[in-house]
Amino acid sequence: MVETLDDTKRLAIATKLSEMKALQNLLISNNRQFIQDCTDDEIRQRLQNMVEDDEKNLGVLDTVIVQYGVKAEAKETTQKMIEEVQKLMKGSELTLFEKVSQQELLKHRQTMAGLLIHKAAQIIGADVEAAITPLNTVNFENRAHQEQLKGILEILGVRELTGLEPHQGIWARVQDAVAAFTGVAGSVVSRTDDEMSIRDLLLMDHTKADTLFAEILGSDDPEKIQEYFGQLYKDIKVHGTAEEQVVYPAIRSDYEHTQEIYKQTDEVMEMLDEITPLDPASSEFKAAIERLRTAVRNHINQEESDIFPRLRNNFSDEQQKQMATEFKTAKSRLQDEMAAATH
Ligand SMILES: [Fe+2]
Ligand SMILES: [Fe+2]
Repeated sequence: MVETLDDTKRLAIATKLSEMKALQNLLISNNRQFIQDCTDDEIRQRLQNMVEDDEKNLGVLDTVIVQYGVKAEAKETTQKMIEEVQKLMKGSELTLFEKVSQQELLKHRQTMAGLLIHKAAQIIGADVEAAITPLNTVNFENRAHQEQLKGILEILGVRELTGLEPHQGIWARVQDAVAAFTGVAGSVVSRTDDEMSIRDLLLMDHTKADTLFAEILGSDDPEKIQEYFGQLYKDIKVHGTAEEQVVYPAIRSDYEHTQEIYKQTDEVMEMLDEITPLDPASSEFKAAIERLRTAVRNHINQEESDIFPRLRNNFSDEQQKQMATEFKTAKSRLQDEMAAATH
């Protein structure tokens, strides 16, 4: 019987993602402080570029958390650590060099958290990998930031220790190291905007649902099946409801079959609730999943062939991004409501 929608492994990843977000906010506020306190124009400019990346990546992290579809709080120890660091950074006990040293360690921690989540996702399932793909950008940029911070530390450290200017050539070395990471990430790193268009966002969800169906139908392990179905259940409920709130009303006046789309959504929601009490090891369960997959696929096909062109043609790029933000916000709220109802 599929009763528990939450899987322990998936919750652990949700906690890590939430900690990454908290740490990202800390990195940003520290960086702003450094820009205020530093008198070196070259370093200030580099810090400014870094903080702009970090702010964009905060948005990327938000997207990843919503796409992932499981929410959790950061651990209390992490929240405490963040408060402590914040106090030190605002205080006058540490020199700027010492503060930036701390920042470099935090950046390292952030990079490692991102890589770890990535590795864990490969073990948990293809649907998790699909959901957290945008995290790659954040990880590569953080690696590049670590190199920049090392360069800044070298300059500040030599000045603080000797009162003299360090040898030339630091930034050239930093640039080489950064280029190595941007080379790996390709065009991903140069993206300056965290917001996707509404069609990209919907498509990501549709692909994730396909992946979950394949995982369920390809598995004979009732525990894994329960885990995948728990995720699919939440994802479809949240996606479908958010579409009804944000997407369908926007195209309604230009699409004569909107009512049909709403009806299909209702049917899919009912099917999900009918599957929930079934035994994941039974053939009845798999047969019901097959029927659900067909219903979901037909609905998705109609959306992608009828609704997507209307979104593209009737709305400007800016409006489509705005709709993406609203869709993401609606999903996030629905996920919170669902978590509150089941815990
Ligand atoms: Fe839909
Ligand atoms: Fe959809």
